[in-house]
Amino acid sequence: MRDIEVRSGALENLDVDLIAVSAPGALAGPLAILDGWLGGVIDRCMEQGVYRGKADETSFFPSPPGHPHVLLVGVGEGAGTADDESPTASQMRAVAGVAVRFCREHRLSSLALLLPEAAGRAESVQAAAEGLMLGDFSYDALRAEKTRFGRTAPSLALIWSEEAAAGAEAAASTGRTIADAQNFARDLVSRPGNVATPVRLAEEAEALGERGIAVQAWSAEKLREEGFGALLAVSKGSAEPPRFIILEHRGEGGSPIVLVGKGITFDSGGISLKPSKGMEEMKYDMAGAAAVLGAIRALSDLGTSRRIVVLIPTAENLPSGNAVKPGDVIRGVSGRSIEIVNTDAEGRLVLSDALSYATRLGPSAIVDVATLTGGCVVALGRHAAGLMSNDDELARALEEASIRSGERVWRLPLWPEYGKQLESDIADIKNSGGREASPITAGYFLKEFVENVPWAHLDIAGTAWADEARAHQPKGATGAGVRLLVEWVRGAR
Ligand code: BES
Ligand code: MN
Ligand code: ZN
Repeated sequence: MRDIEVRSGALENLDVDLIAVSAPGALAGPLAILDGWLGGVIDRCMEQGVYRGKADETSFFPSPPGHPHVLLVGVGEGAGTADDESPTASQMRAVAGVAVRFCREHRLSSLALLLPEAAGRAESVQAAAEGLMLGDFSYDALRAEKTRFGRTAPSLALIWSEEAAAGAEAAASTGRTIADAQNFARDLVSRPGNVATPVRLAEEAEALGERGIAVQAWSAEKLREEGFGALLAVSKGSAEPPRFIILEHRGEGGSPIVLVGKGITFDSGGISLKPSKGMEEMKYDMAGAAAVLGAIRALSDLGTSRRIVVLIPTAENLPSGNAVKPGDVIRGVSGRSIEIVNTDAEGRLVLSDALSYATRLGPSAIVDVATLTGGCVVALGRHAAGLMSNDDELARALEEASIRSGERVWRLPLWPEYGKQLESDIADIKNSGGREASPITAGYFLKEFVENVPWAHLDIAGTAWADEARAHQPKGATGAGVRLLVEWVRGAR
């Protein structure tokens, strides 16, 4: 894992390539020092409106003699109120991400992020550390050395111009651990379908055994014995065998929190084939699996006392002479018959087996994470995950964790009226309710398999993938869900 130094002391003595600072803000002191080096240029730029401090805006000042370069990073709206002008934790995460991406782009090899005194609060330090790690991510495993983005990963430091806030080291370390797990999730999601097969995903999970997490991966044979007919139906069209991955962090025992992640390593739609345009993106259909793997990894590294079980049904969804067909009726772990009217609604099928299995573990709560519907991308864009739940208290706890982690969620209803769309003429339920309210009917389908356990579903179809780079988010895999789940579990008592 990358190191992040936490330092304090005179700015004069910093031996780094770049000092980045959020501006404007309650930075009169340190900012004035930097402006002094630059002969008042910063002040003039602000006065003339050349630099306005909008979110993610940057202004670069080449090194004054004997000093590092200076980068101002805008924090945008709502930076502060009259009594507290320091950036929020989310803003600090973004500023740190902008600064580190700037370094990579300009081949600068060391960065010091100047923290405003009032941002010495643990949550801001943690967020700044997260931003440094998250902005520093790129997936280069499949490229030649010379074409790698920002080969010179900069060394990173958080600094104060005076005494560092107490507890800063611990907060920075927490941020590093969580962001490292989020980058691990991004790495998995970035992998093409031929690299991240269900078997390879299981191997990645097994590697977490080194951290003291218990791991099993069930083969197709075991899945047949255990009645996982829905997962097997989805995987039938592919030569890649499915897996059901079970991980456990024992903590101090008790009833577990169960996290379930959709692990479709490639979703072609199956016989209900998707249009070819953009189909290559469907390698990210295992982002839910990556999120729950990242979450348990971080929670275990942080020594969480809660018992946590992670379940990942993983398969590849392809058409072939062996594939499941529209109209087929299957039975999974729940024993209920399911009419498969659309083979492209495969995520809810594999999740239904995992959710039925989860209810047998006597859980205190189940949260599933899935790139479940294109309709969720239409409804919320890439800015929020869809949240659905059968339990208001659980939904509220997730909404609160969402604010603390800076990962937005937006709740959608699961009113009984939506159930009508899933009524089958031949079976107990059908797997698609059509286009209308598709994120909701997908969530409703899942709800049918959780009995009375408090459960929530996060549809991350939009948030798992970024079409453009922004702040601490490079283009591509986002690792959505990791920070939210970690924050929620750490807050759940
Ligand atoms: N994996 C897709 C959903 C998806 C779409 C994720 C776009 C990310 C970006 C899912 O398996 C799917 O195909 N859902 C269908 C459901 C429909 C057939 C009821 C959809 O949303 O179109
Ligand atoms: Mn699909
Ligand atoms: Zn899918």
